Amino acid sequence: MDFEHSRQLQRRAHALIPGGAHTYAKGDDQFPQMAPGFIVRGKGSHVWDVDGNEFIEYASGLRAVTLGHAYPDVIDAARSQLELGCNFARPSPLEAELAEQLLSVITSGEMVKFGKHGSDATSAAVKLSRSYTGRDKIAICGDHPFFSVDDWFIGTTPMPGGIPQTIRDLTLKFKYNDLADLQRLFTDNSGQIACVMMEAEKDIPPEPGYLAAVKALAHQHGALFVLDEMITGFRWHLGGAQAAYDVAPDLSTFGKGIGNGFSVSALVGRREIMRRGGIHHDEERVFLLSTTHGGETHSLAAAIATIGVYKREDVIGRLHQAGARLQAGLTLVAAQAGVAPFFTVSGRSCNLVFGTRDAEGKPSQWMRALFMQECIRRGILATSFVVNYSHTDADIDATIERVGEALDIYRRALDDGPEKYLVGGPTKIVFRPKA
Ligand SMILES: Cc1ncc(COP(=O)(O)O)c(C=O)c1O
Repeated sequence: MDFEHSRQLQRRAHALIPGGAHTYAKGDDQFPQMAPGFIVRGKGSHVWDVDGNEFIEYASGLRAVTLGHAYPDVIDAARSQLELGCNFARPSPLEAELAEQLLSVITSGEMVKFGKHGSDATSAAVKLSRSYTGRDKIAICGDHPFFSVDDWFIGTTPMPGGIPQTIRDLTLKFKYNDLADLQRLFTDNSGQIACVMMEAEKDIPPEPGYLAAVKALAHQHGALFVLDEMITGFRWHLGGAQAAYDVAPDLSTFGKGIGNGFSVSALVGRREIMRRGGIHHDEERVFLLSTTHGGETHSLAAAIATIGVYKREDVIGRLHQAGARLQAGLTLVAAQAGVAPFFTVSGRSCNLVFGTRDAEGKPSQWMRALFMQECIRRGILATSFVVNYSHTDADIDATIERVGEALDIYRRALDDGPEKYLVGGPTKIVFRPKA
């Protein structure tokens, strides 16, 4: 496999763009050296790079593309809307139409405001919670890796450059599935916490009753309960993880997944709270999600079309079924290659991640890079094994077979060391203090 055009473009991009890309998770340090640098086209579950190499791709669009690339219903809706214009002096009727559509599936919400990025929605949830409660501190789940690009979250990571300590001090962290730890935060910061924000589930499911208990504890202490459904929304259930686990948050946030890759996010919540962002109340006003491009019409049309596909077809069922087939096959080939404890596939079937450990059983970026390299050589581009609706059983079966081959190399690298097989250095974690 040749990456010559990627190499040339990488040199140009790094000279012009810090990091060579506009999203850290897509950056060169996240991939092995022998990887496609740029993708030019996608269709369904396949993509093509600038050198013409074809891959079966997983976690498309950082998990935002849930139906598949260039999905006809979504593209047709966006294209038709583009012919009519994308941004006017007043809102488009699509804003109300998508609001109705989204609230018909996310039943905890009575009002919704749209943004472009997931971070728009989570940061708005924080601001709204602070205004509603008159408190400054927030509690976020420390076991969940990402909530926002904004200072209230990035300030808590090992990469807090440029963020004042006063802002960093306002975000507190608690452990997942550990009610006593959250209770400790409320005790130590009595009357100061505006909201509890978390994902319903990451790689480990919630203990029975845990989410309801978090909500009850938050309410007992006068705080709001916010679920970040960026990944779980339109994957766990059409009504989000909140429907799957039957817990109604005060506010919830959606992004990835609601527009099949188009830029649209949503803050959904109870009317009593959300109305503070409006113009019909006597409370303190909150500047809630108001941006030039917030109501861009083709993205709203794409989201309406996406919800339409989910309502007509059993997308959620297929995501779980395809993921289950993949997980079963990968687990089998890992056992056959003799790497089972060192290479793992975990998570809910619609949202599978892989773990790579070295011969000592420690998490290893060297082994991750090697695994990705060997998959790429065989036409599989995978930072995780998150499926979309367009992955066919043939895609899944081809993936299992090729991963089996990649794991034979993985086995050898466990014995001989990854340096012998890996071209270049290891992948790196995004949140690190030095480049
Ligand atoms: C759980 C979660 N919340 C929020 C975000 C932020 O979304 P965005 O990158 O669209 O701003 C992400 C993005 O990775 C996420 O995974």
